Amino acid sequence: MRVVVLRNIPGQGTEMLREQGYEVVVGEDVTGADAILSTLNDKITGQVMDKAGKQLKIVANYAVGFDNINLEAAKARNIFVTNTPGGSTQGVAEHTLALILAVAKHLVAADKFVREGKYKAWDPELFLGTQLAGKTLGVVGKGRIGSAVARAAQNGFGMKIICFDVIGGDTTLENLLKEADFVSLHVPLNDQTKHLISKPQLSMMKKTAILINTARGAIVNEEDLLVALKENWIAGAGLDVFESESTGINPEFYGLENVVLTPHTASSTIETRFEMSKMVAENIIAALSGEIPKSLVN
Ligand code: GLV
Ligand code: GLV
Repeated sequence: MRVVVLRNIPGQGTEMLREQGYEVVVGEDVTGADAILSTLNDKITGQVMDKAGKQLKIVANYAVGFDNINLEAAKARNIFVTNTPGGSTQGVAEHTLALILAVAKHLVAADKFVREGKYKAWDPELFLGTQLAGKTLGVVGKGRIGSAVARAAQNGFGMKIICFDVIGGDTTLENLLKEADFVSLHVPLNDQTKHLISKPQLSMMKKTAILINTARGAIVNEEDLLVALKENWIAGAGLDVFESESTGINPEFYGLENVVLTPHTASSTIETRFEMSKMVAENIIAALSGEIPKSLVN
């Protein structure tokens, strides 16, 4: 059995696959693959599946999101598609809290200020931030990650939580946007969620509100967000994901003081990456052993 790993991944995953006696190749040529181990950078189209060949049984994504894979094309070819659900929950939730705190406390701008030697004397209004306790966090998407963020914000910081979800939420998106001091996005990217946050939604938010996106860039209309940030419709944003990550982040973000930017590293902890590695290998081993993999998405 041939497993093509499109990008080197940390953790024990590739070793687990080799232990099964599979031929594991790291590289871009999928020809002859029985399994493809993909990352969120890799667009897996029907064409890629056909290039691999009829023996292809599984596309195993090393990510919880799977918007990079054409599910219809996989279904038509009887190919399993899997993700790594739960593997990154804690990592992403903690990063979300880190962004909330960083934006609320102007952490990055304050650090830069100190490094540039600008701190001369204590000033009661220097980098005046906002407290989390008692504030309302609006969680958009109550899956594993959204729920973990809500728990941490409530238990750790005494925030009030409101949540919107297509199933099991407790308010409408409109109410959430109007009431929340912090809005954090935790929905998958699909046709229903693309540009879920655009001009009308941004203009409903409080002027003091902070938007956090650790989900997928295209859930937010970035052009609209840039206008909202420049014209102070909202107070700030913490972004780990961007609409155009493969072609480069819109540099207009770089000049904005009220945003904190991280390079899609929310799930980048040793613990998370290792767990994802194990899960992706388990999915491939199941599929190549004639079983149904645990984290099937199609
Ligand atoms: C990361 O963005 C993931 O989907 O796991
Ligand atoms: C991720 O693990 C999610 O489903 O929210």
